[in-house]
Amino acid sequence: MSYDLSKKISHQTNHLIDLRSDTVTRPSVEMRRIMSDAEVGDDVYGEDPTINKLEKMLAERLGKDTGVLMTSGTQSNLCSVLSHCARGEEIIIGNSYHVYIDEAAGASVLGGIAITPIETGDDNEMLPDNISRAVKPDDSHCPISKLVCMENTVWGNAISLDKMNDAKNEAERHNLSTHLDGARFFNAVTKLGCSEKELASCADTVSICLSKGLGTPAGSVLLLPKELEGKARRWRKMLGGGMRQAGIFAAAGIYALENNIKRLSEDQQRAEYLASELKKYVNGSGDSDIKQNTNMVFFTPQKKDGQKLATFLMDRGIVINDPLPTTRMVMHLDISDSDVNHILKSFDEYYNS
Ligand SMILES: Cc1ncc(COP(=O)(O)O)c(C=O)c1O
Repeated sequence: MSYDLSKKISHQTNHLIDLRSDTVTRPSVEMRRIMSDAEVGDDVYGEDPTINKLEKMLAERLGKDTGVLMTSGTQSNLCSVLSHCARGEEIIIGNSYHVYIDEAAGASVLGGIAITPIETGDDNEMLPDNISRAVKPDDSHCPISKLVCMENTVWGNAISLDKMNDAKNEAERHNLSTHLDGARFFNAVTKLGCSEKELASCADTVSICLSKGLGTPAGSVLLLPKELEGKARRWRKMLGGGMRQAGIFAAAGIYALENNIKRLSEDQQRAEYLASELKKYVNGSGDSDIKQNTNMVFFTPQKKDGQKLATFLMDRGIVINDPLPTTRMVMHLDISDSDVNHILKSFDEYYNS
């Protein structure tokens, strides 16, 4: 849903507090300056030095052979799946994962690839037993199982390295390859306290979004083994993602990798604080009605009065998705401590007036 937010600036904070997602951030003045100064070239010819630098930089950091800049996380996941699988082959994926529920079944529509969702565990991780049960026998009635598609973080939940490796090992036991949708890869690394290479080693290919917690206006990078690079670049071209002087986006990505990763722990701390303070406004034990994972707080308002609450907050310059019945409040680059205080004060006015 999109809103006309032009008249919704909070009088108290002088800016809009948009909690719907970490995709709503606006590039900072410094990021815009670096974008405008970026050295660029034609990337379809492989001649954009800033894109080449970003792809190399991320590949080295994550311990992969190479990287390909994509327009979006959706395109990056799709190019990965299409590069791993052919028509009549199958991906096995968590039933709450973005590639399954929010990417318009692109792999099936464009690649003739079957998508098989499986139940996940308590942290939304892929369970080895469920992977094993989903793998098809070598039988002409079945698609050919090919890829296990993981995600981390999932709905803000950071899945431990042990659980990720259990899924990867199970995939390998069945000769399946692995992809990780790491739209919020660095939020997961921040929470788990592991190295970037350790998390990236849980899958053969990894998709990283620059546009979410890292705060760039666009762009994702697919990290992959050398032998898949040609396929991924061909699919990207076919999908309309062969950009030209897109080094302006890569420059924002390099800036974000250097400046916006360390601060992800602040988003997590603000989410923890917000969740702990909001506990007093929910029914029951709190556990079923308020959850916090990395930078996300999931809140189910009492008395199922979600629409009223959303309107009340909107009048105070705070934007949330309508609670249906749960709403998600996401901490990001454009949310400060004083914004969190304004949010809590507004909740207090709502529930106590
Ligand atoms: C987990 C996850 N994966 C992939 C995507 C897709 O990213 P994009 O919006 O850049 O296509 C999103 C978008 O929010 C996401 O949350």
